[in-house]
Amino acid sequence: MLNYTIMEIHNNLQQQFKQLFNDVQDSRLFFAPGRVNLIGEHTDYNGGYVFPCAINLGTYALVRQRNDRLCKFYSLNFDQLGLVEFSLDNLAFQEHHDWANYPKGVMVEAEQRGINFAYGWEIVFWGNLPNGAGLSSSASIEVLMATIINTYYGQPFSGVEMALMAQAAENNYIGVGCGIMDQFASAMGKANCAILLDCNSLEYQYVPLNLAEYTIVITNTNKRRGLVDSKYNERLAECQKALQILQTNYSISALCQLNEQQLQGQKHLFNHEPVIYQRAYHAVSENQRVLSAVAGLKNGVDLKEFGQLMGASHTSLAQDYAVTGIELDSLVASAWRQSGCIGARMTGAGFGGCSVNLVKQTEVANFIQQVGLEYTQATGLVADFYVVKPSAEAREIKINVEGKND
Ligand code: GLA
Repeated sequence: MLNYTIMEIHNNLQQQFKQLFNDVQDSRLFFAPGRVNLIGEHTDYNGGYVFPCAINLGTYALVRQRNDRLCKFYSLNFDQLGLVEFSLDNLAFQEHHDWANYPKGVMVEAEQRGINFAYGWEIVFWGNLPNGAGLSSSASIEVLMATIINTYYGQPFSGVEMALMAQAAENNYIGVGCGIMDQFASAMGKANCAILLDCNSLEYQYVPLNLAEYTIVITNTNKRRGLVDSKYNERLAECQKALQILQTNYSISALCQLNEQQLQGQKHLFNHEPVIYQRAYHAVSENQRVLSAVAGLKNGVDLKEFGQLMGASHTSLAQDYAVTGIELDSLVASAWRQSGCIGARMTGAGFGGCSVNLVKQTEVANFIQQVGLEYTQATGLVADFYVVKPSAEAREIKINVEGKND
């Protein structure tokens, strides 16, 4: 599944498209990446820094405009749900439309930003990101839809605007109060770089990821994640509460506007809310870790230092933010025991999902074998592994006559 060439993916999509819509004439191919966050977890909605990169796994779509107001969407990842059909005249959320609510939500946001849809689309989607595993499968389908809209309507939106539109769909239509990180990484990624993003101002810079003899290995706990969205919203609410408490003494609009010392100086305000203090402490200390990690990377400091900060990030997410659990903790602990691994932490929202590891290229096979074994011994579950590359942003993929993508 991970090693399909672009031609194979295109052919698969075309085959399905033909079955559903007779032929593939005038169809166009689009792709939006998922992301892995290297450091800076649960800081985005606290106005802090994040350091993700888009990856070479994501969601593809074969698209054709119709000449009526109907939309017919199909996902090869959810083929049991069949074709989802709706009219441009009724874009309301429908429970039974399931995954298709994500692109629909983006269409609603696009309308609110002045797009006047004239025609519907027929689209076949397929993604090679594990669903709901913390690698931004939802952001990737949202940004994909934003890219499709942008392309068919004369590019009215910048990449940042597409990211904001996709995030708004997730916030307003899906009902998850996520920050901007995932959609930003998918819409703004760059090959071989990670993005240092200030989620308060949306200022960003690309930082080349010179990993030398190391590579990024993602490990999936394959834990079934129930209620992630509600737990995520619970953390969000806890941080909002911490902010309110701190606003009695500081005129701030986001937790990450304070540094660790300033927060520690206000600890007495949290006498009756020790857990709320811990949540705030994670956000503020994590923000500092992002800046230290990126400064080290830019100055060409030993990558091991970056790895150490990843380790500290995981500990903080486990102890202060309480979003890891036995599965992620076992995976990360096992990763640290392997000789070729210099950095390991959970990535994404947590509560299951994935971890990210920096592993020596020559040790990857060993790493996968050993961590796989130890993880199963600890949890009874079987992990999946993906070796990924920092990749470019969402885009249309043009296949030329020789069958190569431009
Ligand atoms: C999810 C959200 C992001 C971010 C991370 C945690 O991926 O979508 O906005 O908050 O969790 O860092």
